[in-house]
Amino acid sequence: MTNIEIIEKLDAVHTADNSELAQLISTITDNELEVLRQTAQKCAQKHFGNKVFIRGLIEISSICKNDCYYCGIRKSNKNAVRYRLSKEQILDCCEQGYKLGFRTFVMQGGEDGYFTDEIMCDIISSIKQKYPDCAVTLSLGERSRESYQRLYDAGADRYLLRHETANKEHYSKLHPQIMTLKGRKQCLLNLKEIGFQTGAGFMVGSPYQSIGTICEDLRFIEQLAPQMCGIGPFVPHKDTIFKNERSGSVRLCLVLLSVIRLMNPNILLPATTALGTVDPIGREKGILHGANVVMPNLSPSEHRKDYSLYDNKLCTGDEAAESLKTLSEKLKKIGYQIVVDRGDYKGNH
Ligand code: 5AD
Repeated sequence: MTNIEIIEKLDAVHTADNSELAQLISTITDNELEVLRQTAQKCAQKHFGNKVFIRGLIEISSICKNDCYYCGIRKSNKNAVRYRLSKEQILDCCEQGYKLGFRTFVMQGGEDGYFTDEIMCDIISSIKQKYPDCAVTLSLGERSRESYQRLYDAGADRYLLRHETANKEHYSKLHPQIMTLKGRKQCLLNLKEIGFQTGAGFMVGSPYQSIGTICEDLRFIEQLAPQMCGIGPFVPHKDTIFKNERSGSVRLCLVLLSVIRLMNPNILLPATTALGTVDPIGREKGILHGANVVMPNLSPSEHRKDYSLYDNKLCTGDEAAESLKTLSEKLKKIGYQIVVDRGDYKGNH
């Protein structure tokens, strides 16, 4: 099959064989990528029109018990500045965000033992009480099924937990032994079963990634059928063992955004901060390749620089929630409109 035929197949039946995916991803030319891009953009527009959903990202803690080899806030990084937001600080962020037009708040953080179920449930129910028209998304890593259930019962709507890679060997090259792909997958299954709108995802160009592992990621997403999928380029962090590795490619990330859009037509797909970090117009490019979500930073400005997952992570300019207007204008220029809406998943799983 030619690459164009593979793109047509993805558009028509939303799947392809591993060999077809591998061929497309590894040999796509610039002209073919433009066809892929237009096809994915049309697919996104069919489901979402020219709307882009926004999520206000509140980074609640830079403290983490894990030691993921790629991550700047890994436990063993002695240079990382650690902070934790109080409930009041988090509610202040929501208040700012609500005024700006955010109707989803994402609380993301390292795996910080301080945020017990009791404390999280209290924060979640306070937000839901104050802003009943808003969705609460959590991104707090791996927890027990019971814990996820409690957070859901307290009112949380969505949960983001990237699988990072769907290949076992690759997973073990990115994480210490106590973290396993099996454990990660079980968490995702639990989240889905409980009823969370669930997000998986992976880094593009992480060390030891290959075309083969990427095909496994695409298949994993297809089979799990999460409501959301976050992908962005790997970016090295100076205090990690991967400090000398190269950043993931923007082009490959765009190819994969388009492929994921065609394989999962109504998935919520963000143009991520990492994409905006490695390319000044990465976010716009992401939207034009089939993404339909952006997640500006709503964290208290004095802490933003300390949630440093990778070097030069954006937290100002278009990335900052306060600059929503300029981001909105930029998206308008490419034909898109930011909407004041929870932006829920509209499919049927
Ligand atoms: N480069 C890009 N993304 C990273 N993340 C963590 N470290 C890095 C890095 N060095 C991503 C992971 C994680 C999410 C919160 O941030 O995929 O799930």
